[in-house]
Amino acid sequence: MLKKVQWKKEEMLLSPNPWWTSTVNRTIICILIVCIVYFSYTFNTCLVSSINRALRRESPPPAPKETDGTTSTTEAPEMRILGSIVRVVPLIPGSECNESESFPKYRFLQTQGIIPTRQLPDTLIIGVKKSGTRALLEFVRLHPDVRAAGCEVHFFDRHYNKGLHWYRHHMPPTIEGQITMEKTPSYFITKEVPQRVHHMKSQHETPHCDPVTRAISDYTQAASKKKGMKRFEELAFVNGSLGVVDTKWAPVKIGVYSKHLERWLQYFPLSQFLFVSGERLIEDPAAEIGRVQDFLGLKRVVTEKHFYFNATKGFPCLLKSESSSSPHCLGKTKGRNHPVIEPNAIARLREFYRPFNVKFYQITGINFGWP
Ligand code: A3P
Repeated sequence: MLKKVQWKKEEMLLSPNPWWTSTVNRTIICILIVCIVYFSYTFNTCLVSSINRALRRESPPPAPKETDGTTSTTEAPEMRILGSIVRVVPLIPGSECNESESFPKYRFLQTQGIIPTRQLPDTLIIGVKKSGTRALLEFVRLHPDVRAAGCEVHFFDRHYNKGLHWYRHHMPPTIEGQITMEKTPSYFITKEVPQRVHHMKSQHETPHCDPVTRAISDYTQAASKKKGMKRFEELAFVNGSLGVVDTKWAPVKIGVYSKHLERWLQYFPLSQFLFVSGERLIEDPAAEIGRVQDFLGLKRVVTEKHFYFNATKGFPCLLKSESSSSPHCLGKTKGRNHPVIEPNAIARLREFYRPFNVKFYQITGINFGWP
């Protein structure tokens, strides 16, 4: 047996017509090469898709990360596979600022010959930061006639010089009859924005909540990003004593709603605004979203049956979101635990805000009932 093999080997080496020159053998070699290429391709594809599946299972797509009114796309996660670090780019729609035309509903429309196009927004959620702007957007975009940019575009405050063409490009594709919406909470407090929006014209929704809770929420967010941040009480008052409120500190300044609103009213009539109560958005989201749909002239499609109260989160969540049919709460940066603040500091801040709140109620004609 051994000999036979040796002989064959010799024959292969010495033969004037080497074995690979025969047509049959050449064909076998070609088939083998094709098989190897095919199997290695299939193996790699399976590997990549199983990584993606594993990622989707282990870490559901986080809600867009929000900073001081900013949203950034999620960093690609890293995984260790066979000893090497692999950066996996998320393939899940909605994690980018641009809404994708490859959403199933768009693919369906395209097969029907309907081509969605990007439009400038008809409606803006302009603030106020930390009052539930993300909840409002996520809830209202459940409506089939509402399409919204997935993240905060910051056109009117940061990217205005890029022009309307740039802005339109960041809007989701829509078909006739659909409303295009965008939310950037810093619009409400940025001086130049009302005039700039006026040039473009749209209507506005502005969720507002008790300015003291809002300031604490704002502080909680900032403190979560910066280690060793001073205590709330030290920052909210001049020299850290509970006497004089530091009106220059952004979390305090933003809560003087009447002042910011007055600036907007120089350019728009009150009828173009809808004031959404941040508190009611938590207590009774269906009722508040009902008002939003009425304001936008939409049929009330989003109702109680879309919400459930998630006891672990302590907030209302959606039974399904725009892009997935499974229950969906806002990400972990929404609905955070707040630090305990000295009762005296809270009382002093409430006293400070009271006249501004009264003014705000007078202008809007709504008593929000903040303590
Ligand atoms: P906290 O995280 O401080 O509790 P915004 O989206 O404008 O940044 O507002 C964030 C706030 O929205 C949260 O502040 C939370 O109080 C409020 N909120 C309203 N509805 C919510 C919901 N369904 N889930 C989570 N947070 C919600």
